[in-house]
Amino acid sequence: MNRTKTRRIRAKKKVQAIKRERVERDRDDREKSARAVARQTAVDPFGRFWRDWVESRRHLDALLADLPRNKKTAWAPRIQAFLRIPTSLAAEVGIGVAPGEPWKLSKEALLNWTTAGQVFRALEANPQVARNLALDTTVDPEIVAGSQIVGGREDFPPEMIEAWEKDWGSKATDRLAEALSRQPGVALRVRLKESREAIRKELEARKDSFSKLSPVGIRFEGYKAVMAAPSFERGAFEIQDEGSQLLALAVLAPELVIPMLAKEPGEETPDFAGELPAKGFPPMTVIDACAGAGGKTLALADLMGGRGRVFAYDIFSSKIAALKRRIGKAQMTNAKAIQLVPGEESEQLKDFAGKADAVLVDAPCSGWGVLRRNPDAKWKENFAEIAKLPELQSRLLDLYSGLVRPGGRLVYSLCTFRKEESEGVVKRFQAAHPEFKPVGGGYLGPAQTDGFFLQIWEKRA
Ligand SMILES: C[S@@+](CC[C@H](N)C(=O)[O-])C[C@H]1O[C@@H](n2cnc3c(N)ncnc32)[C@H](O)[C@@H]1O
Repeated sequence: MNRTKTRRIRAKKKVQAIKRERVERDRDDREKSARAVARQTAVDPFGRFWRDWVESRRHLDALLADLPRNKKTAWAPRIQAFLRIPTSLAAEVGIGVAPGEPWKLSKEALLNWTTAGQVFRALEANPQVARNLALDTTVDPEIVAGSQIVGGREDFPPEMIEAWEKDWGSKATDRLAEALSRQPGVALRVRLKESREAIRKELEARKDSFSKLSPVGIRFEGYKAVMAAPSFERGAFEIQDEGSQLLALAVLAPELVIPMLAKEPGEETPDFAGELPAKGFPPMTVIDACAGAGGKTLALADLMGGRGRVFAYDIFSSKIAALKRRIGKAQMTNAKAIQLVPGEESEQLKDFAGKADAVLVDAPCSGWGVLRRNPDAKWKENFAEIAKLPELQSRLLDLYSGLVRPGGRLVYSLCTFRKEESEGVVKRFQAAHPEFKPVGGGYLGPAQTDGFFLQIWEKRA
């Protein structure tokens, strides 16, 4: 009996000793890696920034906004370019990436990534390289456009490339990778009551900077500082991608935009061939159901020449607050922003049931069409989360389609070309809602514009 007890005590002590050893070993490991991080951080501020970004799940823009102004100005374009074309960029500055080898940037790899710091320092030491890489924002836009390094499929996470291959095949995938690793230009939407010519002159833009795609657009290749212009201060124009401008236009005049849509993403968009009514489109009651901070709300309200009504909804108070500020600044009297409570949308909107002339559902999506503007997003993509998106998109379409009046219009738009979210959701909606007649749909960009999908229906009378 006694011997058994002694054996048990001994075994227990042994287990405790093993546990103690493991705890100590873990602590040693943690301390060791903390020391390594501290060492690296001391010599590599860019690396620290990098780690903060990966660990925080914050959008890169938000993190850059925290930097002192001089650092932000220097880092922002370099970091963005680096994230857009890591392979080509690293090759250009002579930092070892084996040819043809994809940069599979897992979170762990990113956290321990000193290469980012090396590339960054190499760029700082060699302004000519930076210039050639279109990173120097003061360079003449023509030089920038001509010398841009073009990225490829190895600049994207392999899972993403696989998904593009599955949806669109190999050739289209190459096109998409190239388009989405290019530096996007800056596009403006000029208010209908303003003169595009006057704004162009004020911004000292070239004659050919009028957009060929949007009848109210001005575009610049590369970067252009436009926010300091007095005309921006008085709300004469907004910064908005030309594709996004076209989506808003499609809600009011689908016949002008449908001919510009492609069957596949990444194809060339033909020039805009219509004409806008000088005083704006006839007044309508439009519901912008997923308005966000209201890029399309403002465009819709303006394209109706300040007449009609645009009711803009979102579930996030911060977005609605931002939209209210923008409506105030632009002095738009025909747009109103209202916050929705998730789960109570139908109740909140019941007075509009079957009454709206047009409803826009610009749904939350994987955002693959705007990766050239948010190049960090691809390294943080959560593929399990995006698998759930079609469910949400279908729910939002079911919910908000009930607001369309007979003879009215429903528009579903996305800033992605992921088929399950675009054509997949459209198919599902059409099977469940024969009362909606498809009028047209397809893809815009990504090439001259960001990448979008658009589908328009008319509710049978
Ligand atoms: C693609 S963004 C909209 C972008 C915006 N239309 C623009 O032009 O800038 C999708 C928006 O849908 C919103 N959202 C998500 N669930 C929603 C819901 N149940 N009802 C309304 N909006 C929702 C998100 O907060 C997000 O702002």
